[in-house]
Amino acid sequence: MKDLTPDRAALDPIEIASRDEISALQLQRMQWSLSHAYNNVPHYKNSFDAANIHPDDLKSLDDIARFPFTVKADLRDNYPYGMFAVPQAQIRRIHASSGTTGKPTVVGYTSTDIDNWATLVARSMRASGTKTGDLVHVAYGYGLFTGGLGAHYGAEKLGCTVVPVSGGMTERQVTLIQDFKPKTIMVTPSYLLSILDAFRAQGIDPRDSSLEVGIFGAEPWTNAMREEIEQAFDMHATDIYGLSEVMGPGVASECVETKDGPTIWEDHFYPEVINPDTGEPVADGEQGELVFTSLTKEGFPIIRYRTRDLTRLLPGSARSMRRMEKITGRSDDMIILRGVNVFPTQIEEQLMKIEALAPHFQIELTRDNRMDVMTINTEAAGSDLSAGQRTAAGDKLAQLVKEVVGVTAIVNVADSGGVPRSQGKAVRTVDKRGI
Ligand code: DLL
Repeated sequence: MKDLTPDRAALDPIEIASRDEISALQLQRMQWSLSHAYNNVPHYKNSFDAANIHPDDLKSLDDIARFPFTVKADLRDNYPYGMFAVPQAQIRRIHASSGTTGKPTVVGYTSTDIDNWATLVARSMRASGTKTGDLVHVAYGYGLFTGGLGAHYGAEKLGCTVVPVSGGMTERQVTLIQDFKPKTIMVTPSYLLSILDAFRAQGIDPRDSSLEVGIFGAEPWTNAMREEIEQAFDMHATDIYGLSEVMGPGVASECVETKDGPTIWEDHFYPEVINPDTGEPVADGEQGELVFTSLTKEGFPIIRYRTRDLTRLLPGSARSMRRMEKITGRSDDMIILRGVNVFPTQIEEQLMKIEALAPHFQIELTRDNRMDVMTINTEAAGSDLSAGQRTAAGDKLAQLVKEVVGVTAIVNVADSGGVPRSQGKAVRTVDKRGI
């Protein structure tokens, strides 16, 4: 793989500014953001008043911990526009997160917000090794989901040529990559695996493709998966993080020269990690739930939003801004199996160790005689595995899951293609216990 480290001269100066400069900018912007939310969004006025706190009380960055959290239910209760801080006519675009239950969460952006977002995605792409003039294949879904359009505007801002493919029609994804020769692909890691299958089905070696960089996010994925993808395509794989409530892709992103967890673009978002049970902030380096306060957003300011994503804050490495550890899971995705907490990424990590198995999997939870049962549905890598090899591979996975993760699981090894494929975010767990 080529060394794609960006020139330091090409970075935004704030990316490599001193911590003092970054903190000073954060404090000034945080004061603005709190006042903006308080003065323009009744929900924030009410919640700050109820907590007996006022934006003027923020004298230092740590004072943010005195302000109330915002949770997803607050956004639902104010559906659709109640959390917007400017009149609808000043909103240039709306996005919404799908919301598997109940109403979707609606967010809005002014033209300044869209411009800042594009700048941050461009910065994220530059960090991944993508350069001005490169051709970029965007296979995140376009539409209300923030992935497609977020990536698109960022790529244009960086001065790239964008191919707005969106998700789906997997064979055509391969044709377009072969014909248009993109250097960068932006896609969920699970959908990239479907594209990888399609390459192989067409008899094309993905290592011969033009791709040099993949920018993957929107769902948890492990370093083991990174290795698998980098090997398969002979390209760099970097992690981009974000959520619609805070902006979309580009809240944080990994640098190609270190690949050590996404750098949080702290000039626009203030991160905290809290103990999810007590709500108390924990020290940098300690695990907990990630919380964000937007510092510049006009249309949809968000104060102390509880993301439910579990990670820890790490010191800056390739940039001065802090990093977050690669997300291991969301508290929503945690499976409690007979008293043991399990995240799908832990299963992914073990699966990746077994060459005879493809990297596709889905976890099924059922109840048998009041006992919870976990079944891992995975599949054979290729079609030339004997029945004996398949059984051995399944047994090996069950053994690793038992030893390393600490739970007993049934493993089914289907034929190649037997596990449902994602075209966006993968569905990792199917819970049939309530049925
Ligand atoms: O998934 C935004 C996005 C699009 C990010 C494209 C990256 C690339 P939502 O649909 O609102 O927004 O989902 C946000 O997805 O709270 C995490 O749980 C998860 N997520 C996003 N990026 C990552 C990542 C977009 N890099 C939710 N690693 C977040 C792990 C991620 N989880």
